[in-house]
Amino acid sequence: MKEIYLDNAATTPLDERVLEAMLPYLKSKHGNASSVHKFGREAKVLLEDARDTVAEFIGAKPAEVYFTSGGTESNNFALKGIAFANLGRKNHVISDTIEHSAVIDTLEYLKSRFGFNVTYLEVNKFGEINLEELKNSITDETFLVSVMHSNNELGIINDVAGISGITGNKSILLHTDSVQSVGKTHFNVNELNCNTATLSAHKIYGPKGIGALYIRRDTPIDKFIHGGKQERDRRGGTENIAAIAGFKKAIEILKTDMATDIEKYKLLKQKLILQLRENFGEKTIINSADGINSLHNIVNISFDPAKTDLDPDTLLIKLDLKGIAVSSGSACTSGSIQPSRVLKAIGYDDSMAKASLRISFGRFNEESDVDSLVITLKEIIS
Ligand SMILES: Cc1ncc(COP(=O)(O)O)c(C=O)c1O
Repeated sequence: MKEIYLDNAATTPLDERVLEAMLPYLKSKHGNASSVHKFGREAKVLLEDARDTVAEFIGAKPAEVYFTSGGTESNNFALKGIAFANLGRKNHVISDTIEHSAVIDTLEYLKSRFGFNVTYLEVNKFGEINLEELKNSITDETFLVSVMHSNNELGIINDVAGISGITGNKSILLHTDSVQSVGKTHFNVNELNCNTATLSAHKIYGPKGIGALYIRRDTPIDKFIHGGKQERDRRGGTENIAAIAGFKKAIEILKTDMATDIEKYKLLKQKLILQLRENFGEKTIINSADGINSLHNIVNISFDPAKTDLDPDTLLIKLDLKGIAVSSGSACTSGSIQPSRVLKAIGYDDSMAKASLRISFGRFNEESDVDSLVITLKEIIS
């Protein structure tokens, strides 16, 4: 049975070229970047080259890029770092209901333990926030807005430049979780005018456990991890040089391959949507499809439970048994299947949310993967 991986928004396979770039740093080039000898200098050179590479790719200065253990840490770093630098001053943060849990859980922690107030903006049926509502939610106490650049379940792209037009005028800081956007759409921190932005390597064919936080030079933010003086004394801990070498290579590959990657995502998305409409018609709802500014690699679909005899709880498992990996609109939490918070936020009831699938394409998918998925879905959903 051929295995078909269509869950690239969860994580991407490691590109062979990335693996090749990492290997020397897992073998002979094993130095600690803080050591003064040759081994240390070798690691340090790689570290700073990687910083230059990431910075250039997102339109930042190298001194504004901080390596972290990934997207979750970067979001924690930005939100806690900015909030703690504001303790005793202003206390209001604005975000939205469909942020990743790395943002929502962090904000809830800041709220419950430190007394910050958080406003979560509602989204419309496509997952879009309303900029007027954002404007109206700002108070004299607001010091931070956190809105993701694109959503990991729906693929919707937010107007972050439009948001910074509002926050910039009022000296409010802006954080954007850009984990899903980098490599999938044009992303430039200068154009967006945000203060902080989150990146993660394992969404761009790099290794897991490495990412970065962009911090604009003038941003008041506390040190995040205490210990050594690494990362310009903001994040202590010996740098993960092999993973950073992989992250660097993943970005270098994007420089040459991103346009081709995006063309492929577009083609696969169009093909899938067409085939779904042809084969399932009214039985499916395709989120973020027509006329909505969304990522080309993510297709979110829902099967109307009233029009199919589908058992939503077993849909994903049945696909898995046929060798097809996708993500579903529900997750197993504490032994029971819970519908996705994001799909509930766009107005779905439990059964509709559970009958949803996220298909996310990657560099290594082929058109035949779409054909196989649709044929299998037809078998499952009679
Ligand atoms: C939007 C978004 N933010 C943050 C994360 C967390 O990133 P990481 O897995 O690198 O911790 C993810 C991962 O799924 C994500 O999709």
